[in-house]
Amino acid sequence: MSREVLGILCSGRGSNLQSIIENVNTGKINAEIKIVLTDKPNAMALTRAKEAGISGVCVDRKLYETREAFEEALLAELKKAGVTLVILAGFMRLLSPLFVRAYEKRIMNIHPALLPSFQGAHAHRDVLAYGVKVSGATVHFVDEGMDSGPIILQGAVSVLDEDTEDTLAARVLEVEHKLYPEAIRLFVEGKLKIEGRKVRILE
Ligand code: GRF
Repeated sequence: MSREVLGILCSGRGSNLQSIIENVNTGKINAEIKIVLTDKPNAMALTRAKEAGISGVCVDRKLYETREAFEEALLAELKKAGVTLVILAGFMRLLSPLFVRAYEKRIMNIHPALLPSFQGAHAHRDVLAYGVKVSGATVHFVDEGMDSGPIILQGAVSVLDEDTEDTLAARVLEVEHKLYPEAIRLFVEGKLKIEGRKVRILE
């Protein structure tokens, strides 16, 4: 089996990117990170990529008139780099069917809640407002909906009475940093089998 080539898309801080870089560097994930793409020029993820010796490119959303043109530019970078698996790590944009079809079943995302609950961009706020006692993180394949693709792995944390969005986010992030590298490892080792809505783990 040929080695997967990862392209990682981020919008900001890039702490998940960092944990993936570390897991590649220690050999836990047997793949190469070829490119980090951001939609914002000031994303900290670009600094992290540079420090790790990985090519970092900003495809600035503001410079494109349409989502299609923006996504074509992202796809051109990914194809040029020979990317075979696209990792969304804090990439705060919904991808159109055009993009999703170009990497069908080869795009992963991490969401900071237990899907299908609390989809969308304000998961922690919504979790606290609803009053659930358990939250967590979900790694899933990306389909044409929002946070709706087949679920690969989930991890749970308790929601505490005294939690704020920040304290909850920090507790969930600890789970994210273990869950995402593990899901990528399973993929690159050929151990994920998508069967309709379900992802079977072959190990
Ligand atoms: C994470 O909580 C992730 O689940 C969500 O956005 C956040 C990104 O954090 N999609 P970081 O940029 O990886 O630090």
